[in-house]
Amino acid sequence: MKNQDLVLIPNKGLSRLKWEYEQKRTSYDDLLCFGTADMDYASPKPILSALCEVVGKGHLGYPLASDTFYDAIHDWLLRTTSWDIDAHCCVSQNAGIYMSAWNILETLTRPGDKITILTPVHFCFKRMINLNGRVVIECPLISENGKYMINFSSLEACFTSGSKMFWLCNPHNPIGRAWSKEELQKIAELCSKYNVLIMSDDVYCGLVFSGKKYTPIASLSKKISYRTITLYSTSKCYNTTGLRHSFIVAENPELFKEYGESLEKVGLGYGLNIMGIAATIAAFNECDEWLSIVIKQIQKNYHFIKGYFAEHLQGAIVAESEATYFAWVDMRQLRIHHQQISYLIEQEEHIIIENGAVLGKGGAGFIRINLATSEENLREGAKRLKHFWEQHSS
Ligand SMILES: Cc1ncc(COP(=O)(O)O)c(C=O)c1O
Repeated sequence: MKNQDLVLIPNKGLSRLKWEYEQKRTSYDDLLCFGTADMDYASPKPILSALCEVVGKGHLGYPLASDTFYDAIHDWLLRTTSWDIDAHCCVSQNAGIYMSAWNILETLTRPGDKITILTPVHFCFKRMINLNGRVVIECPLISENGKYMINFSSLEACFTSGSKMFWLCNPHNPIGRAWSKEELQKIAELCSKYNVLIMSDDVYCGLVFSGKKYTPIASLSKKISYRTITLYSTSKCYNTTGLRHSFIVAENPELFKEYGESLEKVGLGYGLNIMGIAATIAAFNECDEWLSIVIKQIQKNYHFIKGYFAEHLQGAIVAESEATYFAWVDMRQLRIHHQQISYLIEQEEHIIIENGAVLGKGGAGFIRINLATSEENLREGAKRLKHFWEQHSS
């Protein structure tokens, strides 16, 4: 295995949530899993070596995040987005993106506060807001022939109704948009006008197709950065979700302090994940080439699905994607009840996909296919979905 090769990992024997959990639950020998947001590629060699190095040193106690950690984050953001942060003053670690999000919700909002999200979006957004006693305001995205856009007048209406916070997903899971500078600028202007805080989940920021660009909303200006906390992790882009490690960037010292106090409440104020630190350093310093190979493969997989569906599943629209590793497909022409679609695909074709109905307004009747897998799996999956389409059209 060369340093930057893309290596497929087996579908059995690794106790993965994406595969083994579903195989056990369904008992299907020929099951194909395109659900859980993990890749079927081994994590990059520099990350694996860095983790082995930690083990080799024999110390698994509380780590000290070294200058190398902060420098890696600073240099990576500057190199890839031109955002020049003082990492020592505005970066803080946590135990995964959603723990970061929880601390932000806990400290910057109160029960009953309204939080606006663009839907459809990853199901945890709505669920976490609801389970923590805050109120979800859904602002549905608009789509024209599979190209998704923000409806800025309805976003403004959401803010007029008194939103405390806007929870952005950039790039956006599941529809695969990497929001443009112009779109982010418009969001920023509305948030300033209505005094709305921004929590930006940028976990997919490295997975942007060639010709497109990731822009952190906080990098637009200091003024915007002062109302923003940005969430990062190596988890999605380098396939390290099992490490449960993340970090935030908050340039506003007040927000940074309040966030830190919230960490203290749950004992997360010190000594976070020794493996996560090592993985972050290796990812940002040594894995640019690996990531570009992954992106190339995902783009190839995406174009295969788009072409295959256009030819064989006429009427199923695959959204225009420019980021993430998902194909977002409009299956509404089948007229299957939206609560049934993933169940029927599982029962009849032995395929696991995510049902769009759980992703908020605008998701019913859609499915999300995880493309970070082998070309062979995708070819077989596409063939079975064609069969499903044929059985249910008419
Ligand atoms: C947009 C988004 N944010 C965060 C997560 C979870 O990230 P982590 O497991 O690294 O906390 C997911 C998982 O699918 C996601 O889609």
